[in-house]
Amino acid sequence: MAYPKVTIVGAGNVGANAALLLVMKELADVALIDVADGLAQGKALDIMHMRSNEKFGPTILGTCDYADTAGSDIVVVTAGVPRKPGMTREDLLSINSSIVRSVLEGALPASPDALYLFVTNPLDVMTNLAYQLAGLPKQRLFGMGGVLDTARFTHAIAALTGAQPEQIDALVIGAHGEAMVPLPRLSTVNGVPLPQLLSDPQIASAVQDTIQGGAAVVELLKTGSAFYAPASSIALMVAELLRPSGRVLSVCARLEGEYGIDGVYMCVPAILGAAGIERIVELQLDAAELDQLRCSAETIKEQLAASMR
Ligand code: LAC
Repeated sequence: MAYPKVTIVGAGNVGANAALLLVMKELADVALIDVADGLAQGKALDIMHMRSNEKFGPTILGTCDYADTAGSDIVVVTAGVPRKPGMTREDLLSINSSIVRSVLEGALPASPDALYLFVTNPLDVMTNLAYQLAGLPKQRLFGMGGVLDTARFTHAIAALTGAQPEQIDALVIGAHGEAMVPLPRLSTVNGVPLPQLLSDPQIASAVQDTIQGGAAVVELLKTGSAFYAPASSIALMVAELLRPSGRVLSVCARLEGEYGIDGVYMCVPAILGAAGIERIVELQLDAAELDQLRCSAETIKEQLAASMR
């Protein structure tokens, strides 16, 4: 059986686990590429050994050479330095900007028709930067952040209510950082909005746990940042791109007037499909939510301006 081809740039914890999920879910053949000689090759070989037991169909190729990524349907960019304790995502800005630049130089000529999914932090700034550098239509270049933040909000709601994840329909939009915008009013458990289930302090604590979710993992691991939930968030987005179900996901998308925000990438509800971003969903936000979202946009624009200096 022929599978779609997905390139994952960066064979660190996020990239390698995303690769593993894509093949185990039978979604795509994966080209896993890394600058470190042997890293992608070693992890790919290990997963191919695992394939003998698990018997999934797709294959993984590990490489240092962009020629092996040619003709990909989707390119996922995870390459970058992860957060260490005490570091903010923004601290990563200058080093990861140059990594994104060199990744595009390698990946774009090999896969000019692909969809590009950015994961490198600081996510919003890197996705904005990639858009400026790549010259691709906005529908074909986007970022992963909101799906991860939504997963963390879902976890916090599950912990407070005892509900299973499948009963919870949560949403987090805005920046992937301190300025993110969890939306309790539009998040439900079995269709019931959170404000009717939880007290204000409980909601505030769920929101805080969501915003601090990434930092909490960094503090515990001490040597790096989260990777299982980020990898699974990538797999979820790739699944929607390859086998669209019409599900609304929080996607780091370029806004051109939606929500009254112009010329910046940040997470908003969107529907993915073969063309990339098929549609941005404009929710009816109340004044406070809209205000938070616009603050998020300003934060990202400031970081972007700083990165250009
Ligand atoms: C996180 C980092 C990786 O949210 O952005 O875990």
